[in-house]
Amino acid sequence: MESSSCLLLLTTIPGLEDLALKEAEEKLRILRAEVKPSHVGGRLLIEIPGEQLAEAFKLRSVEHIIRLLKVFPVEESAEGLNTIYREVYEASIPLASTFRITCERIGSHNYTSMDVQRVAGQAVVDKYGVKVDLENPETIVRMDVARSLGFLGIQLTRKPLHVRYQRVYQHPSALNPVIAYGMLRLAGLREGEKLLDAFCGGGTIIIEAAQAWENLDPIGVDINPKSVEGAWRNAASAGVSGKVKFLVGDARRLEKYLPEGWIPDRVVSNLPFGIRSGRVKALPKLYGEFLQSLHSLQSQGVVCLLTAQRSLLEASALEAGYRITGARKILYGGLESWIMLLRPS
Ligand SMILES: C[S@@+](CC[C@H](N)C(=O)[O-])C[C@H]1O[C@@H](n2cnc3c(N)ncnc32)[C@H](O)[C@@H]1O
Repeated sequence: MESSSCLLLLTTIPGLEDLALKEAEEKLRILRAEVKPSHVGGRLLIEIPGEQLAEAFKLRSVEHIIRLLKVFPVEESAEGLNTIYREVYEASIPLASTFRITCERIGSHNYTSMDVQRVAGQAVVDKYGVKVDLENPETIVRMDVARSLGFLGIQLTRKPLHVRYQRVYQHPSALNPVIAYGMLRLAGLREGEKLLDAFCGGGTIIIEAAQAWENLDPIGVDINPKSVEGAWRNAASAGVSGKVKFLVGDARRLEKYLPEGWIPDRVVSNLPFGIRSGRVKALPKLYGEFLQSLHSLQSQGVVCLLTAQRSLLEASALEAGYRITGARKILYGGLESWIMLLRPS
């Protein structure tokens, strides 16, 4: 490691690690990188020059930034807790006067993340005599256990980086902006393009695009007037209301609702999955009619859709005259979902 470099463990949505690395490579000088260290999804390790640390906080594909102190083998049996105590005790941890331990545990162990927090916290108290403050600690010590490895570091982010603005309207199925950003990148969005989200809800995708790309002409459509009003309020809160448009409309009849002659270059949408709302039965008709309506606009651009219903979407897409050009599995809120890329055939 270069003397002034820092080793960072970045967390992201499982399935988007490579996109996060690509973004990091564009925005930072990467000295070393490892995607999914020890096959742990949703993680990447990067080493960057110390003076670039502030830039890392601008990454839109990342949730948390952890300055890594050490990685060590840890048993999956109860013995692992003794190892964690010893390794934390022996580590040199830069601490302020109060701290909290945060733990994410991946894999199966004979102990819980609460146990890890307890023994790691005890080691810090025994060695440094500093106080625990669960609410507002000055230092967040992160002690992750991923299968047979322990990752000890200082969590530099106080809240996840997906919190980009205050969501004054909380849509019940609001998308994580990190996923919205990933989808916009996968769709290949470029400056100046017309972007459509036909199921915009609280406006996450359109707002993300307006924040991260210049001079777009983005339109969000939702059948529910309450969502559309909420999307406008969220856009104002994000400081982009002058750059976006939201309309009440039906994704099954886009030709009726979109401005005349307005043909999207890219379509990026988080489709209704029906899983939580229990409306799975209505989805084949909804997906089919939406894609037929979209096809009738004669846009030649990429369509990027998020769904938990991969085979249904594939069948609807083929029937409506699209070919599938990509499929990527992500883990979203514990649910396997698919980002699908389509093009008119
Ligand atoms: C999964 S949510 C989208 C959430 C959104 N990405 C966000 O972050 O807030 C799906 C949305 O599709 C809308 N919707 C359902 N059927 C529709 C239709 N036929 N036309 C347009 N919107 C529809 C629902 O009102 C809901 O807001």
